[in-house]
Amino acid sequence: MGKEENKLTSVVIGASGGIGEAFVKNLSEMEKVKTVYALSRKETIFKDDKIKPYKIDITNEVSVEEVADFCGTEIDLVIVASGMLSDGGGLPEKSLRDIDLSAMQECFNVNTFGPALVAKHFIPRLPKDKKSIFACLSARVGSISDNGIGGWYSYRASKAALNMIIKTAAIETRRRYKEAIIVGLHPGTVDTALSKPFQRNVKHDIFSPEKAAGYLLEVLENLKPQDSGKCFDWNGEKILP
Ligand SMILES: NC(=O)c1ccc[n+]([C@@H]2O[C@H](COP(=O)([O-])OP(=O)(O)OC[C@H]3O[C@@H](n4cnc5c(N)ncnc54)[C@H](OP(=O)(O)O)[C@@H]3O)[C@@H](O)[C@H]2O)c1
Repeated sequence: MGKEENKLTSVVIGASGGIGEAFVKNLSEMEKVKTVYALSRKETIFKDDKIKPYKIDITNEVSVEEVADFCGTEIDLVIVASGMLSDGGGLPEKSLRDIDLSAMQECFNVNTFGPALVAKHFIPRLPKDKKSIFACLSARVGSISDNGIGGWYSYRASKAALNMIIKTAAIETRRRYKEAIIVGLHPGTVDTALSKPFQRNVKHDIFSPEKAAGYLLEVLENLKPQDSGKCFDWNGEKILP
């Protein structure tokens, strides 16, 4: 990977904080990475010249298309690390009576429809003749078979629907991009703004964003085209739909 033309172009969405920002930093430190497009709704500043910040709102298709043009063609790695747990800092639903239509729609806008728009405009920019990756941060709670305790209607359902978008895009993409890998990722519980209100109840390890991003990049490194369409956790274990 010494030659400049062999180095990788990567895109991270959700670069303004949490796991996305950690992905940006981690990728920028890799010799084999040439450019990291660091995309977020809020403005960001990074010191490394390799990192190219730009604003994006994934719920607005005009914005997604404009940013895809800015990033160019031949993108080797796209990580959609944006997401939300509940609207406006409210708590996720404990019960059916907590369902609020506009909050639920916002959750689907950010967690499901936005990543679908990103897939629409970025997957056609993957190279056709070499390994490429399009990965979205999903969540274990989006697994229907793993739902043992209920609650969190909007978040669970928006991530389950995201997993279906990933599976469907993988089927379509493999016809023309033989080495493309389209996957969902579960980062574990990570110390970010999103998980803050619930960390007290967590019985297992809570990772730093840097640790979670490092684990997930290792998982991506080891994936093969036949893994496309599936969802993997930070340890490389498959998550059942
Ligand atoms: N933390 C955990 O324990 C955990 C566990 C399982 C799964 N996950 C998943 O991992 C992903 C990252 O979560 P996190 O913990 O890093 O959360 P976070 O710290 O709250 O970061 C979420 C990011 O999403 C971005 N975002 C939200 N709406 C957006 C929009 N419309 N357009 C563009 N960007 C938008 C935010 O950027 P702006 O602020 O600039 O809008 C922010 O950078 C999420 O998909 C989450 O569901 C996290």
